[in-house]
Amino acid sequence: MATDLSRPDPDGSGISRRLTRRIRTEIRARGWIGFERFMERALYEPELGYYNNGSTKFGPLGDFVTAPELSPVLAGVLATRIADVLRPFDEPVVLEVGAGTGRLAVDLARALRALDIRAQYWILEPSPELRDRQRRRCAAAGIEIRWLDDFPREPFDGAIVANEVLDAFPATCFVKRAGEVRPLGVGWAEREFAWMEGPADAELSVYIASLERRLGRRLADGYRSEVSRQLPSWMRRVAAALSRGAVYVLDYGLTETEYYHPQRPHGTLICHYRHRAHDNPFLFPGLQDISAWVDFSACARTARQAGLTVAGFTTQGQFLVEAGTMPDAGSRPQAADLAAAQALKTLVLPGEMGERFKLLVLSRGMSLDPPPGRDFRARL
Ligand SMILES: C[S@@+](CC[C@H](N)C(=O)[O-])C[C@H]1O[C@@H](n2cnc3c(N)ncnc32)[C@H](O)[C@@H]1O
Repeated sequence: MATDLSRPDPDGSGISRRLTRRIRTEIRARGWIGFERFMERALYEPELGYYNNGSTKFGPLGDFVTAPELSPVLAGVLATRIADVLRPFDEPVVLEVGAGTGRLAVDLARALRALDIRAQYWILEPSPELRDRQRRRCAAAGIEIRWLDDFPREPFDGAIVANEVLDAFPATCFVKRAGEVRPLGVGWAEREFAWMEGPADAELSVYIASLERRLGRRLADGYRSEVSRQLPSWMRRVAAALSRGAVYVLDYGLTETEYYHPQRPHGTLICHYRHRAHDNPFLFPGLQDISAWVDFSACARTARQAGLTVAGFTTQGQFLVEAGTMPDAGSRPQAADLAAAQALKTLVLPGEMGERFKLLVLSRGMSLDPPPGRDFRARL
């Protein structure tokens, strides 16, 4: 397994060069593009973007590992919560948004079946290449899935699950300069992409002014960070899709106060290439993941505005430990249990995924107990 930032193979280099040329053409025509636009093309350009070009992405031979890829434990615990949501409905649906390799779909559908829940399982997946992978995996597991191109027009009763999807929404980057908010984007200089400040953006400035009012302080000069401008419309579409039920959003993220903390002056943008995390989004366009941490306060606010109720907010570690996933202290592990125990540790330990990853539960048309784990809703 390659573990450095060394050059990609010839196929990968070819993809990256073609994508670079396309983005450079747009930059030349317009002089500048916002980072949001760059990230959208780097991740989602048809056939060439990271999520569309057939690269491995997930697992040891890819660039990163997600919680469902590590272990079926998260799926098992989610299933017990989702089963309670689905039980009262005659024709319940689980809609998974952004299903990656289909691993969570298989484990969750199986766990629901084991709990005697008969539900339709739908996946909303924009990447044709990942859809193919999901189709193969689900078919091999005997799981029946319906794939959607968009949120359904007719609202349904059930659950919506999005694990590590919101971090992949193109981020709008900005910097404070002499008291003004400047959008940060991408230019072309000395044969490569380079950060470049763009023209004032009234909508962005209004958002940052309201953020500063909520924080009760101004962001310092030179402070850089991100905003997800796709989040409000995504939340509105989620809310419109759900008649009664719950939404489970899991991702790495922070509350607003932590996200825009003075000690986080460079924002949260993070790139993954061959299991190395770094902060250069211009490296090998199309061959590395680019993401930004999720602002869970913004998620909760936009969810409420869309008519959803915030039913729970805790850390992934708290959620899994309080759900009783840890082995008994007195039990003797078998050799086969050790790999599973290692994966579980990665999911729950504070220095691993346990605290960085959060679970936000939203509900509509039904009352829901908060999930297991400390209730951090007051911090949102
Ligand atoms: C980091 S992967 C996570 C995959 C999977 N949920 C997991 O945890 O293993 C991000 C997934 O979200 C999908 N995705 C990205 N943007 C999306 C959007 N706007 N709507 C739905 N899915 C999206 C990607 O194609 C990919 O399947």
